[in-house]
Amino acid sequence: MRHALKIVLVAVACLTPAAQAATVASVYSPDGALKVELDLNGEGRLAYRISRKGQPLVSDSRLGFIFADDRQFLRNLKLHAQAARSFDETWEQPWGERRFIRNHYNELRATLVESDRDHRRFDVVFRVYDDGIGFRYEVPKQPALEQVRIQQELTEFVIARPATAWWIPALEWNREEYLYHRTPLQEVGVAQTPITLRTDDGVHVSIHEAALVDYAGMNLMRGERGKLRALLTPGTGGAPVVRRTPFATPWRTLQVADRAGGLVESNLILNLNEPNRLGDVGWFKPHKYVGVWWSLHLDKETWATGPKHGATTENTKRYIDFAAANGFRGVLVEGWNPGWDGDWFANGWDFDFRKPTQDYDLQGLAAYAKSKGVHLVGHHETGCAVSHYERQMDEAFALFRRLGIDAVKTGYVCDAGQIERQDVANGPVLREWHEGQWMSGHHLRVLEAAAKHQVAINAHEPIKDTGLRRTYPNWISREGARGQEFNAWGDPPNPPEHEVTLVFTRMLAGPMDYTPGVVSLTGKNGLELQSTLARQLALYVALYSPIQMAADLPEHYAQHQDAFQFIKDVAVDWDESRVLAGEVGEYVAIARKQRGSPQWFIGAINDRNPREVSYRLTSSTQASATVRRSTATARAPTGRAPRDSVSCARPAK
Ligand code: NOJ
Ligand code: CA
Repeated sequence: MRHALKIVLVAVACLTPAAQAATVASVYSPDGALKVELDLNGEGRLAYRISRKGQPLVSDSRLGFIFADDRQFLRNLKLHAQAARSFDETWEQPWGERRFIRNHYNELRATLVESDRDHRRFDVVFRVYDDGIGFRYEVPKQPALEQVRIQQELTEFVIARPATAWWIPALEWNREEYLYHRTPLQEVGVAQTPITLRTDDGVHVSIHEAALVDYAGMNLMRGERGKLRALLTPGTGGAPVVRRTPFATPWRTLQVADRAGGLVESNLILNLNEPNRLGDVGWFKPHKYVGVWWSLHLDKETWATGPKHGATTENTKRYIDFAAANGFRGVLVEGWNPGWDGDWFANGWDFDFRKPTQDYDLQGLAAYAKSKGVHLVGHHETGCAVSHYERQMDEAFALFRRLGIDAVKTGYVCDAGQIERQDVANGPVLREWHEGQWMSGHHLRVLEAAAKHQVAINAHEPIKDTGLRRTYPNWISREGARGQEFNAWGDPPNPPEHEVTLVFTRMLAGPMDYTPGVVSLTGKNGLELQSTLARQLALYVALYSPIQMAADLPEHYAQHQDAFQFIKDVAVDWDESRVLAGEVGEYVAIARKQRGSPQWFIGAINDRNPREVSYRLTSSTQASATVRRSTATARAPTGRAPRDSVSCARPAK
């Protein structure tokens, strides 16, 4: 539903040629606090800068391209034209952390043309919101630029003030599954986005991207004095990105807020994506699920067939009964299909997604689930043999559709850079990166094939989230961070500050299938989780996803009926979400209003330092919190987090 759609064309003008370091164009956010200025220096190099409330936030940061097979595209530029417009609409999410989203920005489009030789041109488009900025390059079709091989973008983000950064390394073997570094900005190495920054005078900034389509994911490489520079993920086409004109890059984004919670409440990434392309996705129901999963990570059961096989008919019936008895819609079963025997990490080409193993009566179980109002949740681990998966996926989704399986967890377990791409059967196998251009295309091919059969996708070891769930609302969730599985076997398991950091970093990109609810607080071989029961519950609210797993074993829930009651009751779809209190990596309290109900839930999680947070809940739309930092000494990470480190309450109203 759309209301209040308003587009105002403000100005279109031709401009004077650039003089020495001249500011040639500018645009303000609707509330006037953020200002973007474009500058051309004497060499015709283009830069932007951002100020906030009159103070510099991003100082002159260059823009342009370096091509692999053509002259660089960053000097001798002239501003040919500029156009400005304002836009204001409110759109509705089919599911989400809030129902209605206002998309309100001022836009500046600047057309830059080379003054020499081929007169190559591009537009740079800035959209300036109250909660941040998005900009992208749009390269039109032109005789001197038909196919381009982008070696690098020369896009810079020069933070004008000293800052602290929370970041994970890019281009490492374990993809996104790292603990976050907290360092001064000058000590960032090569980081993935989103990266979160807090300037020493308290402004919070998240740098990321929106609408990563047919392009390589952007990482950030530290340069001199507060400078971060785009570093595109490699690809196999002779450059990270190969495109034909016309094309647009993804939006490069800076979310900006005084409060850390302001970053979490920002809708900038979604707003910069195109509207829903799939039409009515009412067939996807946000839900909670249980299944054959934690037992595999504990080594109590195996993905492989044999005496410990988890995906047997009998065992799955037990989970279906458990789901039905406790009101869970979904039952995930991993290891249901051929390909897991032996070293499945290395044998992705053995996976068959169209038939079950012999000890798994897929048809019978789907019917049994249906008779109890439960749906099996599908699982497609590709082992990174991605072309092999693409060849089967249409049939695989059609099979699931026939069986009432309308959500599928996909997986891409292999070291980074080891995705296997084979364009023709029996042809050469090329190695791609999870975050590269080819994988950006792969994930959309999966979404489109799945949507045709009304199937929703939850990708593990995915490409990063850039808000494409707005355009493809069957992209319901993903992993893309160090999840609960590390609490089964991680070395170390997730420390208390990890999930708090996720809220202000990874979660700014979009929903995460963290798989909370391990009430036993115990991993493999008795490994003690650095967590608490309250935290395992609070995660259902703190880490947003429209699907949430109750990850622990049924027998463990039987021992924790009180905690289990909360997991049964907690909502997964929301009208509204607010951050009551929080600091990056330290603590956070989030309140969410259940969709279509007056009920609110609050989840609060903490690092290892005891503190008290009190909320004043005055009405359904107003809440405030006070925080008192305890003077107690921080506890060592060896044991559990202090018992008072998390709290969780419902209802709030
Ligand atoms: C890694 C996923 O994150 C995990 O949830 C899954 O169980 C395994 N891969 C197997 O697909
Ligand atoms: Ca994983």
